[in-house]
Amino acid sequence: EKGGYPHFMLKEIYEQPKTIIDCTRGRISADGSSVTLSGVMANKERFLNANRIIFVACGTSWHASLIGERLIEEMCRIPVEVEYASEFRYRNPVINKGDIVIAVSQSGETADTLAAVELAKERGAFIFGICNQVGSSIARATDSGTYIHVGPEIGVASTKAFTGQVTVMAMIALTLAHEKGTVTPEYFSEVIRGLQRLPELIERVLESDGRISELSKIFTYSRNFLYLGRGYNYPVALEGALKLKEISYIHAEGYPAAEMKHGPIALIDSEMPVVAIATADNIYDKTVSNIQTVKARGGKIIAVVTEGDTVVRAIADHCIEVPPIIECLTPILVSVPLQLLAYHIAVNKDRNVDQPRNLAKSVTVE
Ligand code: M6R
Repeated sequence: EKGGYPHFMLKEIYEQPKTIIDCTRGRISADGSSVTLSGVMANKERFLNANRIIFVACGTSWHASLIGERLIEEMCRIPVEVEYASEFRYRNPVINKGDIVIAVSQSGETADTLAAVELAKERGAFIFGICNQVGSSIARATDSGTYIHVGPEIGVASTKAFTGQVTVMAMIALTLAHEKGTVTPEYFSEVIRGLQRLPELIERVLESDGRISELSKIFTYSRNFLYLGRGYNYPVALEGALKLKEISYIHAEGYPAAEMKHGPIALIDSEMPVVAIATADNIYDKTVSNIQTVKARGGKIIAVVTEGDTVVRAIADHCIEVPPIIECLTPILVSVPLQLLAYHIAVNKDRNVDQPRNLAKSVTVE
C-alpha cells in the first residue's frame, strides 16, 4: 500500500504532482481563462462583501493559512487574520457580522479547530471549510467549503495536504479577485498558468531528491536548525522547521529572516545549520544580506534558490534549486525540498518517520 516506497511520507511527497492535478481538476478551465470554486461562487455576495476573513487552524494547516492570508490580502484587498484554533476558542474573539471564518484542517477532526468553528457559528459568523477528509466533522460543521482532494494522507507529517491547501487558497483568492476586479488580467493569467504548470515543476524539484539525500548526511547529527524566509516564504520556513522537529526530533525554529537580528542571531555559530529560502522575489536583495550576516558569523547555510541563481550560490554552503514561478506560488515549490530534507535526516537517524513518538495523525483531544 506504500506503492513501493519505504514510508508513506515519501510516497505522499512524490504524489504531489498528481495531487495538485486532482486538487485543480474541474476548477480551472482548460484554456486557463477562469477558476470556478462552487463553494465560493454559491456564497459570492458574502465573500465579496466580507469585512474580514479569519483563518482558524492548527499546525501545518495554520502555516498554510498564513500563506492564504498573503494570497487573499494581495489579490483581493480583504483584511485577513490567522489564528491558532486553540487560542481563538478561549479568547472571546471579536466576530462581527460580515466576517467569514475559514477553518483549515486536513483530517477535519482536529478538536481545537472544530471547537473554534462551533464558537464562531454561535456568534453568527459564516463558516467556510478547507478540508481533505470528505464528510469529516469540520466539513460537516461548516456552512460551505472547498475540499482539497489530495487523497488519504497517512504519514503523520503533513505534506501533500499542505501543498493542496495552499493551492485551494490560491484558487479562492483568484476567484474573488476576478469578481472584485482587484488584479490585472495579466496577473490573473500568470497565476493560473503557474497553477497549471505546478505538477511539472514539482516533478523537476523531485529530481533533486538524490542530492538532498546526500546533503542530509552532513546534518544528521546537528542539534539545532534555523529556517529563515520572508514574505510568502516565511510560513514555509515555519513549516520546514515543523517537519524537521516532528520526524527527526531535532530542535528547529522558523523565523522571518529580518527578525534574526532581534535575537536569534546570538545562536549562530559553526554548529548551527541555517536553511535560508532565497528565491527570486521582490525582497531577494534583503534576503541576500540576511544570508551574508549568517555567513559572517560562521553559520552553515543551506539555501533554497531559483534555478540559475549565482549571488546566493557564491555565499551559501549548499544550494537547492527550484524552478522559477510567480512569487505567490513559490511556497508550493519551496516546501517540497524542505519535506525531503526533513525526511532524509529522520531516516538517517532511524526514526519512525510515519508515526513519530508522542504524535497522532489527527489530534482529537485538547
Ligand atoms: O488535520 P489537521 O490539518 O487539522 O491537523 C492539524 C495539525 O495537527 C497537523 O497539521 C500537524 O501539525 C501535522 N502533524 C504537521 O505535520
